[in-house]
Amino acid sequence: MKVTYHGHSVVKIESGGKNIIIDPFITGNELTDLKVEEVKPDVIILTHGHGDHVGDTVEIAKENDSLVIANDELSTYLSWQGLRVHGMHIGGSYQFDFGTVKLTPAFHGTGFQTKDNQIIYCGMPAGILFTAEGKTIYHAGDTALFSDMQLIGDRHPIDLAFLPIGDNYTMGPEDAAYAAKLLSAKKVVPIHYNTFPVITQDPRKFIQMLEQNTGTILLPGEGINL
Ligand code: NI
Ligand code: MN
Repeated sequence: MKVTYHGHSVVKIESGGKNIIIDPFITGNELTDLKVEEVKPDVIILTHGHGDHVGDTVEIAKENDSLVIANDELSTYLSWQGLRVHGMHIGGSYQFDFGTVKLTPAFHGTGFQTKDNQIIYCGMPAGILFTAEGKTIYHAGDTALFSDMQLIGDRHPIDLAFLPIGDNYTMGPEDAAYAAKLLSAKKVVPIHYNTFPVITQDPRKFIQMLEQNTGTILLPGEGINL
């Protein structure tokens, strides 16, 4: 399984011959190395309804007939726009032909902002556990630190965790380092930083707070083979 980081919260997974992308925020994401027309995912998984996570989902999914996996409210909303969706909810897992997806809690807000200044409620935000080929990846989405991360780590041995460190909207570096400990993640990659001025962070400081040799900084386009 190959896992690649593409700036902000964008993570690409190649597993079982399928391309999966989490939170494809490309337009307006100055950190990403991706171009909307070059992303050809079979599957899109969304953590929550904020614009910097839903991103270019509608355009990409229509172009590639991608399956969109998200919580029930967000997936229903996207299905009304003609997308092929699979709705799930917090605590539920489902075995797809490319791997197993489980949605975990995340403490955050959610709402899709329409062009005419309406906010549409998009259900509870989530983290994602993705398991395939005997390995488990945890993408925390946008979240505060919470003690049930320990439960997530106890129930699911995590080989690779993507944790937000930007602060302001999510955990900052200190809380994210504590989260890594609760999760007992074998490898940790910081995400959701330096995209906007209010989430400016030095990821090297975060890595230094982690247990030795667990933290890895991935630049946009860099990946890990699991
Ligand atoms: Ni958010
Ligand atoms: Mn966000």
